[in-house]
Amino acid sequence: MCGIVGYVGERPCRDLLIAGLEKLEYRGYDSAGVSLLDGGRIESVRAVGNLANLRSAIEAAAGNGAVAVADATATIGLAHTRWATHGRVTEENAHPHGDCSDEVHIVLNGIVENHAELRRELQAEGHVFSSETDAEIVAHLIEKHYAGDLAAAVRGSFADLRGHYAFVAMHARHPQLLVGARQECPLIIGVGEGENFLASAIPAFLRETRRVMQVENGDIVVISPDGVEITDAAGTPLQRQVEEVTWDEDAAERGGFPTFMTKEIHEQPDAVAETIADRLSDDEHVNLEELEIPPERVAELRRVVIVACGTSYHAGLIGRYAIEHWARLPVEMDIASEFRYRDPVIGPDDLVIGITQSGETADTLAAMRLARDRGAHVIALTNVMGSQATRDADSVLFTRAGLEIGVAATKTFTSQVAAMYLLGLWLAQGRERLPRERIVELIAEMKALPHQIEATLANVEDQVRAVARSHYQGRFFLYLGRHIGLPVCLEGALKMKEISYIPSDAYAAGEMKHGPIALLDESTPVVCVATDSPILEKMLSNVAEVRARGADVIAIATDGNEAVRETADQTIFIPSTDWILQPMLAVLPLQLLAYDTARLLGLNVDQPRNLAKTVTVE
Ligand code: F6R
Repeated sequence: MCGIVGYVGERPCRDLLIAGLEKLEYRGYDSAGVSLLDGGRIESVRAVGNLANLRSAIEAAAGNGAVAVADATATIGLAHTRWATHGRVTEENAHPHGDCSDEVHIVLNGIVENHAELRRELQAEGHVFSSETDAEIVAHLIEKHYAGDLAAAVRGSFADLRGHYAFVAMHARHPQLLVGARQECPLIIGVGEGENFLASAIPAFLRETRRVMQVENGDIVVISPDGVEITDAAGTPLQRQVEEVTWDEDAAERGGFPTFMTKEIHEQPDAVAETIADRLSDDEHVNLEELEIPPERVAELRRVVIVACGTSYHAGLIGRYAIEHWARLPVEMDIASEFRYRDPVIGPDDLVIGITQSGETADTLAAMRLARDRGAHVIALTNVMGSQATRDADSVLFTRAGLEIGVAATKTFTSQVAAMYLLGLWLAQGRERLPRERIVELIAEMKALPHQIEATLANVEDQVRAVARSHYQGRFFLYLGRHIGLPVCLEGALKMKEISYIPSDAYAAGEMKHGPIALLDESTPVVCVATDSPILEKMLSNVAEVRARGADVIAIATDGNEAVRETADQTIFIPSTDWILQPMLAVLPLQLLAYDTARLLGLNVDQPRNLAKTVTVE
């Protein structure tokens, strides 16, 4: 979730670019940089940490004779905030990146999946790299394809790249051109008078212009002070409308959404895509080299123990199905605040996974430390670079959801689930518990998830809002599921109570007859997760029992499952995928239901009462 700002025009742009980056800070970043082109040369300044560090680095560079930077006369430039994915958080890895001759500079968001292969090819052709990033490849590719026409060089490079990304390039010999390309990551043109912007989000230039043009997947965009040209990847000109943005600055920060929570719900396709991208890039293997766990250790493992709190715990519960079913390793799951106090039996044969989006939850950290003290190998699964969990673990697996501002976890949850699937497949691969064809099949299904998430959100939104309108004044919501549907229910009920304050409970549907069925009457909405699974039939019997008590059953079902439609009062369909992967889609209507209910009640969904985003006390 990095940030891009590019400017070309008549005004000196150094400070404009930094002001643009300030508006993208909310996305989270760990380093930043700016490149300015003046007098036929590009000068670049980069710094680890926040924008204050970048400003100090700019002052220092100016003192060292960096002319464009010091005089701030350049009228073309690129700037970037980086959230590290490939390569550590260092100045060398911060963007912009240059080619061998320092004539091409680029900034990139997203991930180049075939970076390793391209790097090898470029190195064999004599290109010398100065960073560990996938992004730098793009600068060298442009250098390779350049024959006097920057747009043509970008088109040539675009054809070589696989992945999901957006980038913007400039060339020392073209002092009035920026060229951008988009493949699945946002890129937007800000259209000004005698100047134009290219950025990853509108807030970056909203103070300067409200006229925008959307860049679509596969578009190559050329901006100059007095024009915008868009072509497809083959160079055929395309027409795009200029739209007027009416948001105020607050709304702009929320990407035009009314709340951060809904913005983050809609960022899930991206967050999941970034989390899985390069780790599944070769279509046949899961690559989690970053864990640095030797194959012998994987082969010798006897057990996996997962510790987490709240929503992260629910992600762990889903991961348990994946690890047990795919890797045939027993998995023990515990709430971190319980685990740490029960003198658990744990040792060197165990792999412990601590899931914590913030990386700072005190109970999870304590549970991880205890496991490490007893000799287990501990993996931190977290969204935050440099967080305490990354320092307390033997290995780290990052989700790449970007900063989550809404207190209720949404995009970090689905990213955690995606990461747990990666771990499950990786363990199965390392322990040779799944045939190669099955791994290939599952990788293909996982790669389809970002698109399916997007489609699900678009398809179910209206239907879920209608359900919320019918029940938002209710006294109680019950969620029922079995098997892999149960953790989805636990998460749905947590979201509902957390942001709407309506008492909500989630139960294993088979347990209803042992007591909770007494809760039901005609006023109770019962949300049943009845997606395809090995025990769907049993779930349907439970749904029928509930309906017989007069409760209003809202079922979440897999596309085409008429049996569920016939059993429930209302059915919300989600796309079909492997049953283990279904929670990723089934949770979406439940997030929306909690959200819509809370909004109808007029509540502040981004900051619910009594809750903080990070729980650092025990
Ligand atoms: C619920 C929620 C919390 C967190 C929990 C753990 O929406 O966000 O339940 O999941 O506090 O937080 P992390 O993952 O940061 O350890």
